[in-house]
Amino acid sequence: MQQQTVSVASVNLFIGSTVNENFSAFLREHHFHKIFILVDEHTLRHCLPRLMDTVAELEGAELIELESGEINKTIAVCTQVWRVLSELGADRNSLFVNLGGGVITDLGGFVAATFKRGIAFVNIPTTLLAQIDASSGGKTGVDLDGLKNEIGVFAEPRAVYIDPTFLHTLPKRELIAGFAEAFKHALIADVDYWQLLCRTEMANAEYWEEIIRRSVEIKQTIVKADPYEKNLRRTLNFGHTVGHALETYFLERGESTLLHGEAVAAGMICELLLSVDEAGLDSKSADEYCTQLVKRFPHIAFDQMANERLIELMRHDKKNVEGEIRFTLLAACGKPVLNKACSPDRILQILTAYHVKYVLS
Ligand SMILES: NC(=O)c1ccc[n+]([C@@H]2O[C@H](COP(=O)([O-])OP(=O)(O)OC[C@H]3O[C@@H](n4cnc5c(N)ncnc54)[C@H](O)[C@@H]3O)[C@@H](O)[C@H]2O)c1
Ligand SMILES: [Zn+2]
Repeated sequence: MQQQTVSVASVNLFIGSTVNENFSAFLREHHFHKIFILVDEHTLRHCLPRLMDTVAELEGAELIELESGEINKTIAVCTQVWRVLSELGADRNSLFVNLGGGVITDLGGFVAATFKRGIAFVNIPTTLLAQIDASSGGKTGVDLDGLKNEIGVFAEPRAVYIDPTFLHTLPKRELIAGFAEAFKHALIADVDYWQLLCRTEMANAEYWEEIIRRSVEIKQTIVKADPYEKNLRRTLNFGHTVGHALETYFLERGESTLLHGEAVAAGMICELLLSVDEAGLDSKSADEYCTQLVKRFPHIAFDQMANERLIELMRHDKKNVEGEIRFTLLAACGKPVLNKACSPDRILQILTAYHVKYVLS
């Protein structure tokens, strides 16, 4: 199986089904006093056995299990983990291993980056979304009262080990939701990649490694140029102004039925519609991109009543300046337009257009 190593800033990022050998070598080299592995009930069952079988150096590691789900990406859960670390004598020479999807890598990275002012951590992402997006780039954090990633720090894992074979046990809905971030990478950076994704049968494992590799390359190129999101990195936020608002809206209503990738897919459709008038995207291309997304991702049925709340939630977006809601839009595939302020009235029109076009029809 092909193996690819991408070295980015201080992060070593490995892709392929034999990455556990790299992880073993890393552990042999570093002699950590203690190792902690963070899992949820699904990665405990589906991913941990494979990891333990192939990385002998993990013998004796302490296991910390969380309940899965975005609803648990909170400070309260971090506090529980910090307490366990403290009780089990974690110190600056310990290693924290995040084995899971984006919830585990976001929360676990934050826990590690803040415990005793920072202990080393590595990410072993096990969902497509975490493999192509959440596990690298150095953003860690948790939600606050449902507001997405309101609390967090930039902190780089020592290494990221991406093994696509973990995806075989991932529920199909989760796999497809992960593809939303791949489509985002294509739209913001690479028309050839967009075409490849449009031709690809998402459930076909043959393509996963290629898709992970291309997405990771796009993300890393952007992150390397602007690690702390002063400007260019906002490109990666395409689809997320509306997407995060939708995600929070569903979390608030206690309906944790909307996955991050699904919210981002709907967010991209809205932001493509917005791009036509606000960023000069030609309407034929916008139609074509929306059609491809609509074919693959679920339509999100939020009612008209939701619109005002969604706009309120967008006011919390980290890209905003002086109360203006700012978007990353597209002038064309591969040509993002940053910091585009749009009025609440304009956003309302787009939410209504999405509702009429994709929910009612
Ligand atoms: N830090 C970043 O740059 C960044 C980027 C994108 C998304 N995110 C965050 O990532 C999160 C979403 O991540 P996600 O989609 O991976 O969700 P997730 O972590 O909730 O995982 C999805 C589900 O799949 C299960 N699972 C994980 N691996 C499995 C496997 N191999 N087999 C079977 N089940 C498995 C999990 O237990 C969970 O139930 C959101 O909180 C989002 O904000 C962060
Ligand atoms: Zn995302």
